[in-house]
Amino acid sequence: MSVAKKQYKRITVKSLIEMKANAEKIAMLTAYDYTMAKIVDHAGIDIILVGDSASNVMAGHETTLPITLDQMIYHASSVIRAIERCLVVVDLPFGTYQGNSRKALESAIRIMKESGGHAVKLEGGSEISESVSRILTAGIPVMGHLGLTPQSIYKFGTYTVRAKEEAEANKLIEDAILLQELGCFALVLEKVPAKLAEKVAKKLSIPVIGIGAGAGVDGQVLVMHDMLGMTHEFNPRFLRRYLNLYDEMSGAFKNYIADVKSLDFPNEKEQY
Ligand code: KIV
Repeated sequence: MSVAKKQYKRITVKSLIEMKANAEKIAMLTAYDYTMAKIVDHAGIDIILVGDSASNVMAGHETTLPITLDQMIYHASSVIRAIERCLVVVDLPFGTYQGNSRKALESAIRIMKESGGHAVKLEGGSEISESVSRILTAGIPVMGHLGLTPQSIYKFGTYTVRAKEEAEANKLIEDAILLQELGCFALVLEKVPAKLAEKVAKKLSIPVIGIGAGAGVDGQVLVMHDMLGMTHEFNPRFLRRYLNLYDEMSGAFKNYIADVKSLDFPNEKEQY
């Protein structure tokens, strides 16, 4: 069976909502720098997420908490310079929007003005509803994020699947509906049971993009370094690796080192 695909010239918040209505799945990947963003945009990705996972995969922190707004703006502006087609969503980092909607708006405006990003993503539901509303009043598109929200890792204690219990699942459904009602254009669901994610996707008219949330949602997102197999120590069940770049790159680096040491590189043709 062939899947009818509409070609979107430039992906917008509106085209994503149309994709859901047309049952076309949305493909999202993270990127944090110019070169990778250019490759993934040319490959035809719908959304690049400049995730605060940059704190882990780019800066080597154990959690996403230390990354700053200035650092997110640096990563996002590098991505923006590379892309021609996809939508770029930028994470608001920890401490820049919780508990103070005015600060949230200021942070979102800085992202939009200084990086040129197209939308922001915030983690949480009813607790951050004032911040979400205030950002939306400035005409800034907001993507929600529920389930395993890594900025709350010290509250959860582990990175295991969320909302397995009824009470947490019900709160997640209420929060998802609230985020849609507030005006969010899409929602990320991270590491929740597939049945729950499918139920949420069916209830909402905005796209639900899953990571470790099964196939019944409207799109998928992965961290680029994980799907390329660069982070070989990270092995969650939901992760599909499309390359084994850790081994490939190690091999290339070892060959280079050996060639330099053995005087094989550079040869006659590789010099002036
Ligand atoms: O920061 C990030 O990469 C994310 C994705 C895991 C959804 O928020």
